[in-house]
Amino acid sequence: MIDPFGRAVNYLRVSVTDRCDFRCTYCMSENMTFLPKKDVLSLEELELITAAFIRKGVRKVRLTGGEPLVRKGIIELIRSLGRYIDSGELDELTLTTNGSQLAKYSDDLYAAGVRRLNVSMDTLDAKRFNEITRWGNLDKVMAGLDAAQNAGLKIKINAVAVRGVNDHETDELIRWTGSRDMDITFIETMPMGSIDERRSSRFLPLSELKETIMKNWTLNPTDYKTGGPSDYMTVQETGNRIGFITPLSHNFCESCNRVRLTCTGMLYMCLGQEDSANLKDVIRSENGIYKLDGAIDEAIGRKPKGHDFVIDRNSDNSPAVPRHMSVTGG
Ligand code: GTP
Ligand code: 5AD
Ligand code: SF4
Repeated sequence: MIDPFGRAVNYLRVSVTDRCDFRCTYCMSENMTFLPKKDVLSLEELELITAAFIRKGVRKVRLTGGEPLVRKGIIELIRSLGRYIDSGELDELTLTTNGSQLAKYSDDLYAAGVRRLNVSMDTLDAKRFNEITRWGNLDKVMAGLDAAQNAGLKIKINAVAVRGVNDHETDELIRWTGSRDMDITFIETMPMGSIDERRSSRFLPLSELKETIMKNWTLNPTDYKTGGPSDYMTVQETGNRIGFITPLSHNFCESCNRVRLTCTGMLYMCLGQEDSANLKDVIRSENGIYKLDGAIDEAIGRKPKGHDFVIDRNSDNSPAVPRHMSVTGG
């Protein structure tokens, strides 16, 4: 699949649920209304659409949410998709998770063919963790990380950099992830969906964070690429990698290789734009499965050049796109 700007689309992110057992302050407001069940694709429908993308050249599938592991029956879907790893049709099947359910599911994930997980964790301080996630429990996530590593899963920690909240903890996060043989990625907050506070006061450009990090750590360039937006460097002192995802201060859209399917069957061709294609209506229509490939081609033909995120003090507090990150899973 090649888009109008000549970019090959080989990475599909599938948000399997919009629900989550956390309420991170930069992601959601405390009172969220989630989708009614009838609007949500069944696991079979999610697999059907994902399989169509694999046939059309997708080599990497990442399940996201909300929190993917709170979706009932999710392991069945992961096992089914794992068969494409066995057959060589897929290079990677992975998840972005908040870690709350990993103590329960890590062995099943490994057995299904998952080898790498991205776990969102912004702080090592239990009280602050609770303030950021509102409903999360750090001990439970730590137990999940232990279980995941014991199961043989490689972990990357994703930390959203929030000014005045976790910026003074960067060294500690780098030291700790290094000691646990995990990579870490810092992410700039993106203006998606309404939240309960002003984003501009909390926005921390990663160029600034990187300068601070370089005072204490030696960062060496690396050509390591995952097919994701993260720009990686190696931390000489720990031997692990550190990544920077900078959609606001440095736009990486020119090398974008991915599209996103939501749990309602909407295909978003860009995280930061509203245009989408309704694949649920396609597959639920008469002879719908025969129309799916054509609908996918048509949508890829509309993939936009990039997003238009800005966060500055002069802009009002309205988000660049009205949907929350949890709809498309980042
Ligand atoms: P790796 O495969 O480990 O490189 O993962 P990844 O960075 O592709 O996936 P992950 O789910 O860890 O993504 C981390 C965050 O990066 C997401 O939650 C988003 O916040 C952001 N991100 C991922 N893709 C895009 C993108 O296309 N545009 C923008 N603006 N942000 C993205
Ligand atoms: N900006 C940047 N990252 C966000 N995440 C959630 N909301 C936002 C936002 N507004 C992150 C989570 C997780 C990933 C799925 O997206 O922390 O790591
Ligand atoms: Fe849930 Fe992830 Fe959003 Fe936090 S960032 S509320 S864990 S979907």
